[in-house]
Parts: sequence; structure tokens; C-alpha cells
Amino acid sequence: MQTNRQIHLVTRPKGMPVLDNFKLHVAQVPQLKDGEVLVRSIYLSVDPYMRGRIGGRPSSHPPFPLNQPANGDGAGEVILSKHPDFQPGDMVCGYLEWADYSVLCGSSLLKFDAQTVSATTMLSVLGMPAMTAYFGLLDIGKPEAQETVVISGAAGAVGMIVGQIAKIKGCRVIGIAGSDAKVDYLVKDLGFDEAINYKNANWIGELEIASSQGVDIYFDNVGGNISDEVMKRINRHARIVLCGQISSYNLEQPDIGPRNFRHLIVKSAMVRGFLVLADYKERFPEGRQQLQEWLKQGKIKPCETIMQGLENMPKAFLSLFSGNNLGKQLVKVEPSYAGRACLI
Ligand SMILES: NC(=O)c1ccc[n+]([C@@H]2O[C@H](COP(=O)([O-])OP(=O)(O)OC[C@H]3O[C@@H](n4cnc5c(N)ncnc54)[C@H](OP(=O)(O)O)[C@@H]3O)[C@@H](O)[C@H]2O)c1
Repeated sequence: MQTNRQIHLVTRPKGMPVLDNFKLHVAQVPQLKDGEVLVRSIYLSVDPYMRGRIGGRPSSHPPFPLNQPANGDGAGEVILSKHPDFQPGDMVCGYLEWADYSVLCGSSLLKFDAQTVSATTMLSVLGMPAMTAYFGLLDIGKPEAQETVVISGAAGAVGMIVGQIAKIKGCRVIGIAGSDAKVDYLVKDLGFDEAINYKNANWIGELEIASSQGVDIYFDNVGGNISDEVMKRINRHARIVLCGQISSYNLEQPDIGPRNFRHLIVKSAMVRGFLVLADYKERFPEGRQQLQEWLKQGKIKPCETIMQGLENMPKAFLSLFSGNNLGKQLVKVEPSYAGRACLI
């Protein structure tokens, strides 16, 4: 029987997680039951919501059990199948374990044609973060041409897609991100109108100038003092899309900041939170189709940061909190996978 390396969560962090919260474990690949498929991991995704899962408190997803493999979105190849719709060699996306191999119910998997779409694109521009960007901006933000859209966490997996869609819709786009290299990338490579490094001492002054016409849509991925500053500048009937609050995910005490609800009253503004999987899962095919179209037309560019090796899953996850990723953070688990020539 084949061995299977897995990454287990072994202790729950207080505050910022550390590498020692995880451990590499070697198990056996289990036998398949009817309806199941054995998938070899090729790329695995790490995402900020996993911070809630390792904390053990109720969050958007159930906690990761201790001493069991963690799991999340991934792309891989079918090795064995006891499901009529899958054959060895099929490429699939699904909720894979942080492991070389996962046994999954065939009905939970999405097959894709690796000659049309690359495995990394399936997890980035056509994956969950892109669905978050697409529905959060279009369904909640409802952008109109000429409006000003500000995005925090703008150089990450969600933020980068939000900005590119907002440009397609004819908006003026201002991104906020955590390094000079990131803000350069947003403006020079992705066509954002302005980008601001919130780690620079004068970033609030830069925001003041960039948003001199006010802010019509604020797509918030981070919360904290960045949101406090943006909310001071909202226009009448602004829409605030509450997507994430990563600045507070590792705090042990509640984040008490300026209380900005007065701005919402006087500007008749709307704030709406959402969970993409709870609110939009049935509409993912619609989002995927449109994003695939924009990709083919060159209107959306993919961007991924790829770490090598299953053993580096915890390191890749932690990098989300130090801002080392540009675009979607992935881990390549299968070193021999060369990919295939594909259209997008
Ligand atoms: N509502 C939903 O259904 C949904 C779905 C997916 C994601 N989300 C949320 O959307 C946000 C973005 O997710 P993502 O997958 O696109 O992650 P991501 O932006 O690719 O990665 C996280 C980024 O957050 C920034 N960051 C980390 N700590 C920060 C802090 N203390 N203050 C400000 N920025 C910080 C870092 O960029 P910098 O270098 O710029 O600091 C880092 O690169 C997260 O809050 C996530 O929880 C929500």
C-alpha cells in the first residue's frame, strides 16, 4: 500500500500561528469505497479563512480537528476511481487534504480540461477568491462607470480581481497594499489608477489626494485603521463591501477603533458583509464563465505566488499574514507535474 504524507494541525495557536502548530505525518492511502475517487494533489491553496479553522472557534467553516490532515481547495489528478464519472488521468478541483493523496466523494469534485485551463488558474482567477471578488463587487458593490472604488488588500487573491473587474466596468480604482513592489504591480501591470502602500508614513495623505472625489465603493479585505481612514472619505450612497478583516484575525483582544457609523448615516451609505460559499455557491458557474471570457480577452491577468513542496503548506499559510504573497498563494505539491499547454 502506498504511503501518504499529510500535514496535521497538532496545536491551536493563541495569536499569530507558528510553524510548530503543524506536523508532517505519514499515513497509508486508504482503500476506495463505491462512489469515491483517489486524487493526487498537484496544487493546494492556502487562504486566510483557515485562520478561523485552526483557532477552533466557530467561524465560517468547521474547525480543523487536531491530529488530522487539514484541508482546503486544491487541484489534482485522478489516480483511481470507483465513481462512474471519473477515470484515472482526469484533472479535478475539490476540497483536498493537505496531503499527497486524498480520497473524496466523486460528487464533490469539479472536472476541468487541463488543455483549456491551467490547474493554477482554476484555483486563482476561476477559483473561490475570484468568485468572492466577482459577486462581492458586482452584486453588492454594484459599480457604475466613473465611480471611485477603493480596495484594501488590493494585491492579494481577491483584491487583485476586484480591481481588474472594476476597471472593466469603467471605474476609477485605488488599491491599498503593503509594499512598494505591490503598488507598482497594481498600477503598472494591472492598470489600477492609483495604489498606496499603507506601510509608508504618509499613506493617509496619499489616500486623501487619490480619493479627492470621494469613495463610492469600498471593498474591504482587511478592516482596522485602513478601513477607518477610507470610511471618512465615502460619498453619498456609498457601498461598503465587507469581505474580510484580516488585520484582526490574529488578535487576542477585540479590535476597538474609531467608531465610524456616523459617516454611514450622514452619507446614507450601505455596508454589507457576505460569505461567498454561503451566499453565491449556486452562481459560481456564471462567475466562472464570465471570468474565463475576460481571461481569454486579456482583460483579466492571473497572478499567483507558488511555494514548492507539501512540507511548506504551513509556511505558505503563514505568509498570508506577513504579506509575502502577490496574488493567489498556492503550494505545488507534485514536483514532476509539468502542466500542459493550455489556452488560459
Ligand atoms: N467573505 C468571503 O466569502 C471571503 C472569501 C475569500 C476571502 N475573504 C477574505 O478576503 C480577504 C483577502 O483574502 P485573499 O484570499 O485574497 O488573501 P490575500 O489578500 O491573497 O492574502 C492576505 C493579504 O492580506 C494582507 N494582510 C495581512 N495582514 C494584514 C494586516 N494586519 N493589515 C493589512 N493587510 C494585511 C497581506 O497583504 P499586504 O502586503 O497588502 O499587507 C496579505 O498578502 C481576507 O480577509 C479573507 O478572509 C472573504
